[in-house]
Amino acid sequence: MRDIRVALWGLGAMGSGIAKMIASKEGIVISGVCVRREHLAGQEVYAYLGMDRGDRDPVFITNNIEDVVRRDLCDIVVLATDSFVEAQFDKIMFCLDRGVHVISTAEEMAWPWAQSEELADKIDAYAKERGVAVLGTGINPGFVLDYLILALSGTCEHVESISAARINDLAPFGKAVMVEQGVGISVEEFNRRIAEDSLAGHVGFPESMEMIAAGMGVKLADIEQTRDPIITNIDRKSAHGEAKKGHLAGIRQQSYGRLADGKVFIHLDHPQQICPEDEGVHTGDYITIRADGYDMNLSIVPETPGGIGTIAMVVNMIPHVIGAKPGLRSMLDLPVPRCILGNYAEQIHSGRDHRYRRGELVPIETVVLPIGERAPQVPDDTKKTPLRAFTKGFLQEESATRGDRVTVRTMSDRLVKGTVSDLPVSPTHTFGDSVPELTAVHRQVFELMFGGESK
Ligand SMILES: NC(=O)c1ccc[n+]([C@@H]2O[C@H](COP(=O)([O-])OP(=O)(O)OC[C@H]3O[C@@H](n4cnc5c(N)ncnc54)[C@H](OP(=O)(O)O)[C@@H]3O)[C@@H](O)[C@H]2O)c1
Repeated sequence: MRDIRVALWGLGAMGSGIAKMIASKEGIVISGVCVRREHLAGQEVYAYLGMDRGDRDPVFITNNIEDVVRRDLCDIVVLATDSFVEAQFDKIMFCLDRGVHVISTAEEMAWPWAQSEELADKIDAYAKERGVAVLGTGINPGFVLDYLILALSGTCEHVESISAARINDLAPFGKAVMVEQGVGISVEEFNRRIAEDSLAGHVGFPESMEMIAAGMGVKLADIEQTRDPIITNIDRKSAHGEAKKGHLAGIRQQSYGRLADGKVFIHLDHPQQICPEDEGVHTGDYITIRADGYDMNLSIVPETPGGIGTIAMVVNMIPHVIGAKPGLRSMLDLPVPRCILGNYAEQIHSGRDHRYRRGELVPIETVVLPIGERAPQVPDDTKKTPLRAFTKGFLQEESATRGDRVTVRTMSDRLVKGTVSDLPVSPTHTFGDSVPELTAVHRQVFELMFGGESK
């Protein structure tokens, strides 16, 4: 089994940590690295990270993404560049175009349907067309204030409401997070930027809220967010951020997810700041689920480490994304995240995918009309789905598995290109699910024809 080849797009705080973790693991290798900083181009990545390369092949950093993201060079791209779906969209489509899987650390990608449904649908459709999977994950969103809550709720018969808090240290994160959290700015600037809505704060509450709601089958009528400055009484400094006395060490952000009757079903509290322990503030993750007549409480003290947590979530999910059904996926679709101590490549689907060989009959899928090109008169939900054709034919390539782009020769000697589908080669027929309305019609017809005798 060959090693998983990972291309890194972005080598900031998270990208560098991800590179180091991959380098320490078995069955997974760094295949390429693309950064924006021009002076890094040409440097060898293990040397740049201060690591011993050992017997690994050298990997040279580039500024040109075309050099690293190609199906023949990598299996998956880790995108650790920015936080928002809109900023990620072109990058993700670029990767999909080249037929490679994607994991993104962008907070909004953890549940991109929350605020960018249209872009999420486009990513989903194109990923399916290209036969690859896309996942957004990290420590939060992606784990502490959503996935972990959902996992706990699985032990409950009923849930009345949920409260959770993550009191954490921003110090492990890079420049992108310092800017979003306003670390080091004055209170006046905080107030001005809140008023003009130009300070991101914690990115991800709508995503966490919607993930919890969707996972539990609950409809939230309203999601409210509040932001308060955390002002430091002493000078604080971390690797990528600095806050002078009287300035912002971070932001306390809270969110309230309400049901249609106005009741708060989910309350999330997230005071984030650099170096909280410098002022005696202890970090921790706390979840309370008010179940049917009892509370379930979970505390992780100190906090689940945010930097290591994000790095590990990304790397540990790599085999699951490669083995996932093509499309835009969430943490709820994939196997449980766990620390992989053995060979990463062996964790891909545990050999469940069939590998076809040249000449074998293969089912393939092609997109006839992508989203955006469907006829204007079709219903809205149909417009959100590409028109797909399924074809069977004999594989022309040496070998292929689900999701690979291949050419097949059909029974009528046509050559057709497409993506190997997970449909069975043998046809299966069904008349579909039972439709309650038709059951009533059935009874009415018998009533009319036989006066109530339904035999
Ligand atoms: N979901 C979560 O729990 C979670 C946790 C941690 C981080 N995040 C998010 O993940 C992202 C990365 O975090 P971080 O701490 O690593 O941030 P960071 O230290 O600021 O790193 C971002 C890196 O991306 C690079 N970059 C940006 N655009 C690029 C492009 N087009 N091509 C190549 N490189 C590009 C930047 O390069 P330059 O330095 O050259 O500008 C920078 O080195 C942030 O948006 C952060 O908010 C999410």
